[in-house]
Amino acid sequence: MALFSSSTRDVPSVAEVPRHVAVIMDGNGRWAKKRFLPRVAGHVKGVELVREMVRSCLERGIRYLTLFAFSSENWRRPQEEVSLLMQLFVKALQQEVEKLDRNGVRLRVIGDLARFDEPLQQLIRQAEAQTAGNTALELTIAANYGGRWDIMQAVNRLATEKADQAGGWSEADLESRLSMHFAPEPDLFIRTGGEERISNFLLWQLAYTEFYFTPTLWPDFNATEFDKAIASYQQRERRFGRTSEQLSDTPNA
Ligand code: IPE
Ligand code: IPE
Ligand code: MG
Repeated sequence: MALFSSSTRDVPSVAEVPRHVAVIMDGNGRWAKKRFLPRVAGHVKGVELVREMVRSCLERGIRYLTLFAFSSENWRRPQEEVSLLMQLFVKALQQEVEKLDRNGVRLRVIGDLARFDEPLQQLIRQAEAQTAGNTALELTIAANYGGRWDIMQAVNRLATEKADQAGGWSEADLESRLSMHFAPEPDLFIRTGGEERISNFLLWQLAYTEFYFTPTLWPDFNATEFDKAIASYQQRERRFGRTSEQLSDTPNA
């Protein structure tokens, strides 16, 4: 795979399948509403689709899957919905971690976890520890995550850890302190549910990512829909600032 350096991380110029897929799983509420069901029914169905997505990534050899499950702004939702979402998160962790582990999936949760209650924080730590040796797929759940929060926590750490070099910090200094420091930048970003916005997801890392927006609601985003997103990605030409001609002249440059 041809790699070159840029201001963004080393990035593959050509890829059969994306290495890293990041998803905003949106549209659960509307899916439920269409069926005259409570919003939470959409979230329950949404968890099933997460399972299917993980399976798809394992089958297709995608190495990193990052899913936006709860944003730092989602606390603004009605208290009842927030609490049901938390319960679902706990239940999913309790029920799925064994299976993820058996399938070689490493689980991480990124975000400001201090806002979650202690039993949930403990479940997260256990799940991360149990799966820490796995390498088939790195599954990251963004929970109480915000891209701006992430950049600020990195800056604040830099300010204490490299105070003496203030004014001379590099992109690498910041990047290594971001929550996704362990992963290459996303190659493909998917947002289901029809909105075309980032909603404070991975702001720094999406600098050169290919975007795919679909009106399909998350609970309907099955493997066939995922394959459409991958096919669309494979037709893109990732130039990283170069011209099209430069790419065809020197494909490995
Ligand atoms: C996404 O679905 C899931 C979360 C934000 C937790 P929504 O709940 O935002 O569904 P819509 O956008 O209202 O349809
Ligand atoms: C974004 O979805 C966050 C998640 C999917 C977790 P929202 O549905 O909350 O996004 P906005 O607020 O409509 O942009
Ligand atoms: Mg939404």
